[in-house]
Amino acid sequence: MNNFEYPSGATPLDPNEMEGLKLGHITAREELNRFEQDNINETLQWLANRRKSDILTEKFVKTLHQKMFGKVWKWAGSFRKSGKNIGVDWPQISTQLHTLLQDVRYWIEHKTYSEDEIAVRFHHRLVWVHLFANGNGRHARLMTNILLEEVLKQKPFTWNVTNINIEDKVRDSYLKALRQADNHDYSMLLDFVRADWKKSNKGQ
Ligand SMILES: Nc1ncnc2c1ncn2[C@@H]1O[C@H](COP(=O)(O)OP(=O)(O)OP(=O)(O)O)[C@@H](O)[C@H]1O
Ligand SMILES: [Mg+2]
Repeated sequence: MNNFEYPSGATPLDPNEMEGLKLGHITAREELNRFEQDNINETLQWLANRRKSDILTEKFVKTLHQKMFGKVWKWAGSFRKSGKNIGVDWPQISTQLHTLLQDVRYWIEHKTYSEDEIAVRFHHRLVWVHLFANGNGRHARLMTNILLEEVLKQKPFTWNVTNINIEDKVRDSYLKALRQADNHDYSMLLDFVRADWKKSNKGQ
């Protein structure tokens, strides 16, 4: 069986989940990343060309994950059925997601927070619930950018990078900001999502 190394803040897969790898020949983490990224790039095409529909539904949330990882993992688009070191107890996932989607609709309707704060709170709750066995970070970052562009009519977050993959250099500050958000302080995450690491380090 493959035994991949995981970056900090990533959720390791259990043996059952590893069996869901559709590409048996993959043995190295970098190779897996590349196949996943190809699959995600195709999803960006699909997103741009699809007939627009309500995105704040369980159906869309699952479909997006299925599109992003469906060529690589059999369980793409299905909620996880195992415990992780992060996330709610797995039988609670569907209920918790519905509560979150209701909350977001309420925040938008009542302008409870700024658009950016609505998106940041949405992102943090989505990764905190941890819907899937893997790909939660990438899925939740893309979901958040779709919320910003299609519903809130705002520019997408930069996440300090040009695509939705968090680079090692900025990963630590992303995780630090999420941990602050775990304690209900969203200020660091609000700064992070609109920062541009490359620009702020120009010339160094
Ligand atoms: N303390 C935390 N609070 C909230 N979310 C967290 C915390 N630690 C990690 N996360 C989220 O979990 C994600 C990792 O989960 P998972 O491995 O399923 O996602 P991924 O898409 O494979 O990861 P990546 O972010 O490397 O692309 C992180 O990217 C982050 O979004
Ligand atoms: Mg991962």
